[in-house]
Amino acid sequence: MKFEDIKTIAVIGSGQMGNGIAQVCAMAGYKVFMEDVDMKFVNNGLATIKSSLDKLVKKQKLSQVDADGTFNRIKGTASLKEAIQDSNADLVIEAIIENPEIKNKLWSEANTLAKKETFFASNTSSISITMMAAASKRPEKFLGMHFFNPVPLMELLEIVRGHLTSGETYEIAKKVGEKIGKKIITVNEAPGFAVNRILVPFLMEAVRAVEEGVCTIEDMDTGCKLGLNHPMGPFALLDYVGLDTTLYIADYVYSETGNQLFKAPNLLRKMVRAGLYGKKSGKGFYKY
Ligand code: CAA
Ligand code: NAD
Repeated sequence: MKFEDIKTIAVIGSGQMGNGIAQVCAMAGYKVFMEDVDMKFVNNGLATIKSSLDKLVKKQKLSQVDADGTFNRIKGTASLKEAIQDSNADLVIEAIIENPEIKNKLWSEANTLAKKETFFASNTSSISITMMAAASKRPEKFLGMHFFNPVPLMELLEIVRGHLTSGETYEIAKKVGEKIGKKIITVNEAPGFAVNRILVPFLMEAVRAVEEGVCTIEDMDTGCKLGLNHPMGPFALLDYVGLDTTLYIADYVYSETGNQLFKAPNLLRKMVRAGLYGKKSGKGFYKY
């Protein structure tokens, strides 16, 4: 299959990342099927897309006609079969929970539903592309397309090559990424890839510093905003990304590498165990 043949994209997972990816793909003209395990999550994802498109119209970055067209190109579903097989999807982008076993299971199922030409991409933040590629049984057609949150506003796309990703798959993913308006960096597989290799230790260290009583969360955030010109401090960013997702990433990279920089602080683990996931659950380091 050539780049020009890609018309329909299945996005699996309708959470923060899945709905953002569905939105930017539809804005670029692709027909999109956005799936999740329950229509409740799909409908939340569709509502977020609607509100994001409204903001873009208000800011005159998008016309009302294009916003309506974008929204109409997205079909929400709770059926993996509808999203991948009935849709005749040419590319599947997965953005489900950051758990290796659950992702492997999804890819094995996706392989039975997708036509043999279909390309597979995971939006994982850290997990081995080569491992998921093996589970998908189409390793040469598999790679990482790692988007950044919030997807409609963040320009970067990390394209991650697995051990057996073909040159053709890489070139097609690069063109799809460019078509949806992203700037691409290319990364060879390593736990956490490039950007999260730096970001996650930074976030862990901020939590450790507060645990040690160095300063308050508010002062650390103010310090990083005013002293480093970061748009958000580390605690606001932890809440934004999701404490659960950040902990899964840290634990995964630590288990793969033993790198102490990824050792999760107790405070972060306790907060996740208490259901304090950040913005998406209404409370994390801050209240929403
Ligand atoms: N869609 C459309 N518009 C949006 C939007 C969305 N999803 N989210 C925010 N906006 C708009 C807002 O309406 C606002 O518009 P106005 O200027 O007209 O008011 C504008 O964007 C700016 O938003 P805010 O005023 O709410 O706040 P802000 O100026 O702080 O910008 C931000 C928000 C872009 C998120 C910015 O704070 C930022 O860049 N934060 C850092 C984000 C970041 O680091 N992301 C990477 C996370 S790590 C990751 O993604 C990888 C991983 O694997 C974990
Ligand atoms: P989220 O918790 O907002 O959403 C995850 C969604 O996946 C949920 O709606 C859940 O119901 C759904 N899901 C779980 N298992 C599923 C399955 N088997 N089939 C279909 N849907 C399923 O999480 P998120 O922040 O969107 O993260 C999703 C993925 O994107 C993770 O791999 C994460 O590491 C990665 N990622 C996250 C960020 C971020 O800033 N949050 C940035 C880049 C990449």
